[in-house]
Amino acid sequence: MHRIVNQLGKGSYNGINRLPVRRGQTATHIQDLEPKPFSAIPEPRKLPLLGTAFDYRKFEPKQFHKRVLKRHQELGPIYKETVLPGMTPTIVFTSSSDDLQKMLKIHASMPQRGEMKFLKKARESFGFHGGVASVNGEEWYKMRKQINEHFLNTESVWTYAKEHYEVSKDFADFIQNNLNEENEVPDFRLAMQRWAFEAACVFVLETRCGTLSGEVTENVKVIIDSTSDILVGFVPLFFGLPLWKYFPPKILRLSKRQYLIKCLLFEDIEKTCSMKRTPVIYQGWRKLCMKVPLLQQESILADFLGGGIVTTQHAAAFALYCLANNPEKQEVLRKEIKEFKKKDNISGKTLQGLKYLHACVRETQRLFPLTLGFSRIIPKDLILSGYLVPKDTLVLNVGNIMNNRDERFFKDPDEFLPERWLTSREPSSRFAMSGSFGQGPRMCPGRRFAMQELNCLLVALLDKFHIEYHHKPFELEFQALFAPSEDPQFTFIPLEK
Ligand code: HEM
Repeated sequence: MHRIVNQLGKGSYNGINRLPVRRGQTATHIQDLEPKPFSAIPEPRKLPLLGTAFDYRKFEPKQFHKRVLKRHQELGPIYKETVLPGMTPTIVFTSSSDDLQKMLKIHASMPQRGEMKFLKKARESFGFHGGVASVNGEEWYKMRKQINEHFLNTESVWTYAKEHYEVSKDFADFIQNNLNEENEVPDFRLAMQRWAFEAACVFVLETRCGTLSGEVTENVKVIIDSTSDILVGFVPLFFGLPLWKYFPPKILRLSKRQYLIKCLLFEDIEKTCSMKRTPVIYQGWRKLCMKVPLLQQESILADFLGGGIVTTQHAAAFALYCLANNPEKQEVLRKEIKEFKKKDNISGKTLQGLKYLHACVRETQRLFPLTLGFSRIIPKDLILSGYLVPKDTLVLNVGNIMNNRDERFFKDPDEFLPERWLTSREPSSRFAMSGSFGQGPRMCPGRRFAMQELNCLLVALLDKFHIEYHHKPFELEFQALFAPSEDPQFTFIPLEK
């Protein structure tokens, strides 16, 4: 069995040596009956007016998660931080699974994440709606209701499965046609972006754009680059000082990207992609979209194209990496796929039967979670890890990165063991992580599409190639969501038929 390279070897985690959480501070030992005051929550060293801002002088946004891990090691399972008092919110960071359960139990019909005023401002600066991710309250609720009707309805997601499988088969052919002498595809990162773009277009624009069969046009490159740039640009805007309020250039870059996407998407998709548009379904999505005001329609489409490319691209890279490093697991999965294909055609429904495939995807997301965790502005006072946290505080549960390789929750935590998801789970591990898609009514609306795309990709690629990886080990790199630190340059050895 191959160990999924844990960056510094045993006992280390994401490049940081793991220390046990402080004794007596684990949530299970804490009496909720007598909560300690909010002011007693541990904090990193701070200066009277400057908070912890001085810590961010040489801040490397891509390593943000390492900062969070280090603070947890120094301060225990809960801490709070105010980067610049009066300018940035106080954020409570917790890794306790009890706290996660409590956050999940609050039933808010209109949950709020941390505010993304910068995104709203960037979009509004050129007359574009803020989008579902950046608004709150009634406005969010109305938009989200329309979106859920289509995006979270399994039947409607399954309608696109055939086309998603076609995209992934085209991608397998693309790989086959572009292999070099080392059996690698030069610039495989761009190739994966093409796959993710094409797969997102299937359900967002209900169009095949042909990016896997022809040259990628400049316009498509701009769309793809913009969607990844926007996410990377989020990090300092979200976690850093709110300089964007005073220095517009910071936000102008984001606006420019958003603006380009808007023009390219809505002015003329055929001209944009320089190819004949091939409608694929035209079933519910466009009709549904028409129910909301025009400005919101545009923003919903941009949100989904923006939200649906980089995310699945990274999820796919991590999955291929885990399978490439664990050839015997790869073989078990290939066997499941081959058996399945003898009996059944690929459809949204039949794909649900591939249990080992789902287990591989879950195990990948345990080892390489795509997000830090689960964040909410809590709608009422809550006792977290024994402290009274007042209503309206922004709380970030970072169990995804603190607990995912902790043996208190997962046996042999550094091993890639999809089998652990096939048997009944240890109850203690249930709330260790919030999962990559968030939780509750504000959970990612694209999750079913993302999983369908990923499942189709693994079926199409494993059916055709044995996959290996011979470069530097992947680490997590924070780009609002987690991306692989290395180029996803895999070796594809065609299988004999
Ligand atoms: C593996 C892929 C993906 C991951 C890991 C991911 C992760 C997330 C997470 C963690 C959230 C916040 C949820 C919360 O606060 O509880 C979110 C929200 C969102 N995601 Fe995804 N996502 C993925 C794919 C997609 C796709 C394919 C789309 C679009 C088609 C999409 C569109 C969105 C949108 C629009 C929101 C904002 C929802 C709201 O605020 O109501 N995501 N996503």
